[in-house]
Amino acid sequence: MSAAPPVIRLRGAGCRFGGHEALGELDLTVHAGERVAVLGTSGAGKSTLLALLNGSLEPTTGTVEVFGEDPARLTAGQRRLLQRRIGSVSQDLALIEQVRVVHNVNAGRLGRWSTTRALTSLLWPRSLDVVRAALDRVDLGWALFERTERLSGGERQRVAIARLLVQEPELVVADEPVSGLDPVRAARVLSLFGALPTVRTVVVSLHQPALAREHCTRVVGLRQGRIVLDVPAAEATDEALHDLYELV
Ligand SMILES: Nc1ncnc2c1ncn2[C@@H]1O[C@H](COP(=O)(O)OP(=O)(O)OP(=O)(O)O)[C@@H](O)[C@H]1O
Ligand SMILES: [Mg+2]
Repeated sequence: MSAAPPVIRLRGAGCRFGGHEALGELDLTVHAGERVAVLGTSGAGKSTLLALLNGSLEPTTGTVEVFGEDPARLTAGQRRLLQRRIGSVSQDLALIEQVRVVHNVNAGRLGRWSTTRALTSLLWPRSLDVVRAALDRVDLGWALFERTERLSGGERQRVAIARLLVQEPELVVADEPVSGLDPVRAARVLSLFGALPTVRTVVVSLHQPALAREHCTRVVGLRQGRIVLDVPAAEATDEALHDLYELV
């Protein structure tokens, strides 16, 4: 166990949507250097958990701390500073469809830019070399000036990854970032997360246990909003995961 303060600490964190409990009272601590795969059936609560971690959702019970801060207690400005440190890929990708790919990738740097710089970048894209390098890393160098809406699902997913790369986050929170990718590109994206110089900690939801075993250090299994498994990745055998995926 590391003596350093954890990157993520959930204490009794729960989430209700109306009468439905999407997440029970979760306790979860993640330390710097860990790469955590979150597994579970559709509806198990993976996206809800990741939304708590990237600050886009507040728990209805308990507390969430990321880098020692509770996003719910921060001012809007402080929350922006915290979110700069978190590279997030949401399941819906949150891309602007009508603009060219370069602008969506540059959005990863908006937290560091003044409003003027951000607005002028819409007319004259900034940092083309940085954007091109990020796109190259996800095999999309050719798409720099393509309109985002014209790309395939897997290509759009990789634009979202490139946006995360230029952000240079310390923590990656990625919700099914490889669900639409072929096996080679899926493996490449997950290796990228582990190889980024600024990134020390990764939390990624996946539907492929084999990728979790290969690219992560720890596997957390959710079932009906509860953590029912929390093991080193090497111990996340098919037998150990069997109950996680049983139909309920
Ligand atoms: N905004 C919302 N309003 C109402 N219910 C919600 C909302 N978001 C999630 N839920 C419910 O919470 C539960 C968990 O949803 P969540 O999206 O976290 O599951 P998931 O594990 O990410 O599933 P998938 O693998 O399909 O993405 C589901 O029953 C879902 O219907
Ligand atoms: Mg989801």
